[in-house]
Formats: sequence, structure tokens, C-alpha cells
Amino acid sequence: AEMNRELRERLMELKKERNAIILAHYYQRDEVQEVADFRGDSFLLAQKAAQTDADVIVFCGVHFMGESAKILAPNKTVLIPDERAGCPMADMVNVDGLRKLKAQHPNAKVVTYINSSAEIKAETDICCTSANAVRVIQSVDSDEIIWVPDKNLGHYVQQHTDKKMIIWEGYCNTHDMLTVKDVVEMKAKYPDAEFVVHPECRPEVVAMGDFVGSTTAILEYCKKSSTKEFIVGTEDGTGYQLRLDSPDKQFHFATKFLVCPNMKVNNLKKLVKCLETMKPQIYVPPAVADKARESLERMLLVK
Ligand code: 13P
Ligand code: SF4
Repeated sequence: AEMNRELRERLMELKKERNAIILAHYYQRDEVQEVADFRGDSFLLAQKAAQTDADVIVFCGVHFMGESAKILAPNKTVLIPDERAGCPMADMVNVDGLRKLKAQHPNAKVVTYINSSAEIKAETDICCTSANAVRVIQSVDSDEIIWVPDKNLGHYVQQHTDKKMIIWEGYCNTHDMLTVKDVVEMKAKYPDAEFVVHPECRPEVVAMGDFVGSTTAILEYCKKSSTKEFIVGTEDGTGYQLRLDSPDKQFHFATKFLVCPNMKVNNLKKLVKCLETMKPQIYVPPAVADKARESLERMLLVK
């Protein structure tokens, strides 16, 4: 506790010195979320990165999020606490495979989940996050959509649109681990609880949800709901904001495996160190960034 206090003080000094802003995803460790200027889901944090007038953005999340921040704010320095914090789902799609699919479906538009590399975004018509996926799909002026990389979110979105979706087979290792059996057991244990679930979970698990939504949607739902007890089907870091918003409610995570190991690679110590040393910094080749930016900026315009 004493060490964390010292680290927090050092962080405040460095933030001022560097004119830096700290963005943290809801899946980060509590000690990181605690010191953030903004906590958010991937949509809100991309928006904050695009709007900030700070000189330095410290992005506490996974690599693609830092990349998106750099693409949207090319003149800023973007730091991440640890380069090894990647997203396995983002790595499940490659440029060659996507180009092949585009050649096979020349009339389709490519809608890409923000959980993807800058190179994939550069091959994309429009990006989306779990918070705006359905609205983004509806905004596209084509009846045929190539969807990468999350098959689970793709399946969920497909139920809310008449468009023909060609869905890539990627998935989130963490959310995809949750099974129907896990949820059945939890519902038996907590019969009065509502089950709230993220659409990165398997379709059969999502179908059991009393509420289905992105991280922010789940947070808002639990805050407003008159229910006092929830079974939570998303990453365990969201407990920080859930409990902050509703100290009188109970949140049971659906399994103890709903932890993204990549998100937890970052910690307060590494956060302070990156601002001290000004590295690791995100670099995106300008030609890739310019193309990727169009797909992200189109997303930011969707109402
Ligand atoms: P959201 O922040 O859009 O809810 O996405 C969840 C996720 O898995 C981020 O990596
Ligand atoms: Fe990737 Fe899943 Fe971790 Fe999000 S929770 S960063 S989608 S592995």
C-alpha cells in the first residue's frame, strides 16, 4: 500500500511534466483503473484519444487499442505500459486471408471489429466496437458484409440485421471459455440474480442472457436496474466499475476464468515506468495509419 502511494505520487508528477493523459480499459487491474483520467470501453477510449489535447496518451489496455489511439491522434506520443499485452483475437485474422475473402466477394463491404491490427483496419471499410456493431452494420450501403474477426459477436449482430454476413472464425479466448453449464450452475446457486453477458461469449451462452451488451451497456444496465444481484458474463476487471457504481449490489462473475491475461500484464509500476522512460511507444507506418484512420473515423461518425 505504501509503495502504491509512492507510485501514485510519482505518476501525478510525471503526468504534469509530460502533459499526459491516462486512458484505462475496464478490464485493467484496479490499481491501474484507479489512477486513470478516463476509464472506458474500447469505443469511449478511442473517442477520448481522438479528442484529447494532451501531448502524451498512455493507453492501458491491449496493443490494438494503443494502435487505434495512435492512428486517431498521429501527432501525439502514445505509450503503453507493456508491449507484450496483445489480443489473441486480433491475431486470428491476417491480411492475406482477408484479401482472399474480398476477392471472392467483390461487392461486400468489410466491417472490422476494433479488436484487430492496424494492417487489417487498413483493408477495412468501417470499424466497429461491441457498443455500436449493429448500428455500424446498418449504416453500410451494401447488403453483403465481410465481418472480421469475432465469430461470436458476428453471430449476435447477424440476429439484428437482414444483411448477408460472411463471418471470420476468430474469437476471444477469455469470453469464449464461458459455457452453458457454467451459467446453469450459477443460476441454480443465485436464483434471484440476473445474468448479464457480453456478445463475445458463445451464441448459446449469449442466448441465456437476461441482458446482452457491450461492457459499457452492461455497466449502465446494472447501475439502473432495480435488481440487486447479478451473474456477470464478461471480464472480471469490470467488477471495479460495477462495485463503484452500485456498492449496495452483488456481482458474481460467472466463472473464475473470466480474466484476460493480456489485460492483466499491465500494472501500476509499469505504468509509472513508461511515463518516466517514454517507452514503449506505439509506432504505425504512416501509409498504413492513413488508410486505417478512414475506417476508424467512419465509425466515430455513426450515430
Ligand atoms: P468492449 O470494450 O467494446 O466491451 O470490448 C471488450 C473487449 O474484449 C475488449 O478487448
Ligand atoms: Fe482480446 Fe478477449 Fe482480452 Fe479483449 S478480453 S483483449 S478480446 S483476449
